[in-house]
Amino acid sequence: MSTAAQPIAFEPRAVAPLGRRRAPVAYTRSLGAYGLIAVRDPISVTPWPGQFYMLASVEGWGGGEGERPFLPRACSVARVRSEGTAVVLEFMLEDVGPGTRRLLAGEVGDELWLAGPLGLGFHPPPERARSVLVGGGAGVAPLVIWQDWLQAGGHAAPALLGFRSARHAQAAALFSEPTVATDDGGAGYHGPVTELLASVLSEPGPAVVSACGPPGMLEAVRALCAARGVAAQLALEAPMACGYGACFGCVVATVDGYARVCVDGPVFAAERLGDLRTLDHG
Ligand code: FES
Repeated sequence: MSTAAQPIAFEPRAVAPLGRRRAPVAYTRSLGAYGLIAVRDPISVTPWPGQFYMLASVEGWGGGEGERPFLPRACSVARVRSEGTAVVLEFMLEDVGPGTRRLLAGEVGDELWLAGPLGLGFHPPPERARSVLVGGGAGVAPLVIWQDWLQAGGHAAPALLGFRSARHAQAAALFSEPTVATDDGGAGYHGPVTELLASVLSEPGPAVVSACGPPGMLEAVRALCAARGVAAQLALEAPMACGYGACFGCVVATVDGYARVCVDGPVFAAERLGDLRTLDHG
């Protein structure tokens, strides 16, 4: 038996103690159709870009009409800031139901339950490859921190962002020099963001695509990159009950069997995935 040491594979994640902790709301901000809520993490763990947290408000979670919301919400971290030794985490949310509505109602002085960082994030690109970021709607959130990380390391990281309308496109203000597309033509390019991606991928030089957004957009990105032989990593969304691999409520089919989005992802290499339109959870 060989006794040679095996290299330890890089895992794109930071880890924190299991369990939830109270995190005070540091500030909030409106971003058109979205809201940004920032919390001060008492254990000061810096997440890896693409990781997520399970969030719930300390007050008023459950017990409302129909007792909803029941479960914490999985939210990708959008940006991290240092405040002395403290870490402030920013989350960008859209009001799509009782959970996100309750979180967006949080004000300075309130507290959230916070568990994370969880899951595996984006892999760093090879030397000299452009990282092209493609986001859609609220799915642009993890690409903010990813662009921060890439640019801090000297990587080119153009951001192509698709939104429904100009009001939604206000979230593009979180990025450095974004290129925006809207469904209604209210801001930027009038059409799908994947048409912008096709144009950018026509430029010479190696590229790696990192994408997050609705299933239809992700499938278009996956198919386009596969057709052009471009590497892509896709951040998936799935309904999550536990966030740490116990409930199997978040499984997705891959070429090598079922995977749990919360621990095997949420970021997956595109070549592991099939048609992503089946991920549409309504
Ligand atoms: Fe429970 Fe993924 S959310 S296993």
